[in-house]
Amino acid sequence: MIKPHGANALLPLLVTDTEKRRELLAEAEGLPSLLLNSAAAANAVMLGGGYFTPLSGFMNLADSLSVAENMQTTDGLFWPVPVMNLTADTRSIEGAARIALRDPNVEGNPVMAIMDVAAIDEVSEEQFDTMTARIYGTLDRAHPGVAVFRSLGNYCVSGPVQVLNLSYFATDFGNTFKTAVEIREEIAQRGWETVVAFQTRNPMHRAHEELCRLAKERLNADGIVIHMLLGKLKAGDIPAPVRDACIRKMVDEYFPDNTVMVCGYGFDMLYAGPREAVLHALFRQNMGATHLIVGRDHAGVGDFYGPFDAQTIFDELPQGGLEIEIFAADHTAYSKKLQRVVMMREAENHTAEDYVILSGTKFREMLEQGIAPPPEFARPEVADILIAHYQAEAQKNTG
Ligand code: ADX
Repeated sequence: MIKPHGANALLPLLVTDTEKRRELLAEAEGLPSLLLNSAAAANAVMLGGGYFTPLSGFMNLADSLSVAENMQTTDGLFWPVPVMNLTADTRSIEGAARIALRDPNVEGNPVMAIMDVAAIDEVSEEQFDTMTARIYGTLDRAHPGVAVFRSLGNYCVSGPVQVLNLSYFATDFGNTFKTAVEIREEIAQRGWETVVAFQTRNPMHRAHEELCRLAKERLNADGIVIHMLLGKLKAGDIPAPVRDACIRKMVDEYFPDNTVMVCGYGFDMLYAGPREAVLHALFRQNMGATHLIVGRDHAGVGDFYGPFDAQTIFDELPQGGLEIEIFAADHTAYSKKLQRVVMMREAENHTAEDYVILSGTKFREMLEQGIAPPPEFARPEVADILIAHYQAEAQKNTG
């Protein structure tokens, strides 16, 4: 099986021993505490589940700058996006060597981790600009990822962590949320060797479905892991439970048994395009995938990235940076001429009119009005779930 990144075995930071966990929770109640923001809490969940192997905690400013600028830590570990715990206010933890990190996303803000504070660095505006430009490729605050990153505060609180729970993901998405440890185990149990991962933050349409099928066939893979983002998205994106239902329905109806695992991870979307694609690949290697599908505008938003920037970045990675490979897919759509979903670069003598393409806005308008989109674009069973969702939303807004 493919090795985890930078280690021979996964290094999940979640404390699983019940007694140890009880002791740490009791200790945490007496420690100074820091209320995390959602981005830092999501990092803690990823660290806890082994997805961010081999990190032992949150990066300090020097590592964060080095990762942003050179895609490696000061020790030379390949890493594409800083894993930071940023805060605006350090008064509650001043002078403390050991602190409790509290969860902003669960009522009552329970402790989710204990940290040994290694440093609290103040980040200057110039350093923020450098990191933002390198990670997101823009300083424009209209970019949803940049807006979040620049709102988190100017203090970088770093150090190793012991994670005590995985926030709301385990409780709210019991069947779907999985740690990298669990996915690795399941892949091993199934005896899969070549494993294609599909990253998604959408309900899956025909193009997505076919991408998975094509990748599996062409790589002669044993299975596909559809690995959906369960954390926070920008306003207007479809909530995780609805996406989960759509994806499960599509897999049940249209894929042979035992060829697909449907699961998800607890991380907030960064919309960082190419850099996020590399992070996506890194943590899919950690969960045991040998390949990640990277299609058109992977992890992108608006017009901030070129449609294939998230593929070309992989050509520039240092040798040995990652073991996982990408399956680079061209724009995929249903061809009326060929009566199947195709990658456009492989379809000869086609013009735009030969494809069934709907803009996101048009698709959404149809669903809101209860109109089924063409079956060539979305499976009818999936469309039904989405129509029910949009109509319930519309009712909430008018009622
Ligand atoms: S993402 O932000 O999580 O990447 P999304 O769920 O829309 O967004 O896409 C999941 C994967 O499918 C990405 O690799 C993306 O590039 C790819 N993809 C989505 N739609 C298409 C399409 N029509 N053609 C080619 N690739 C696509």
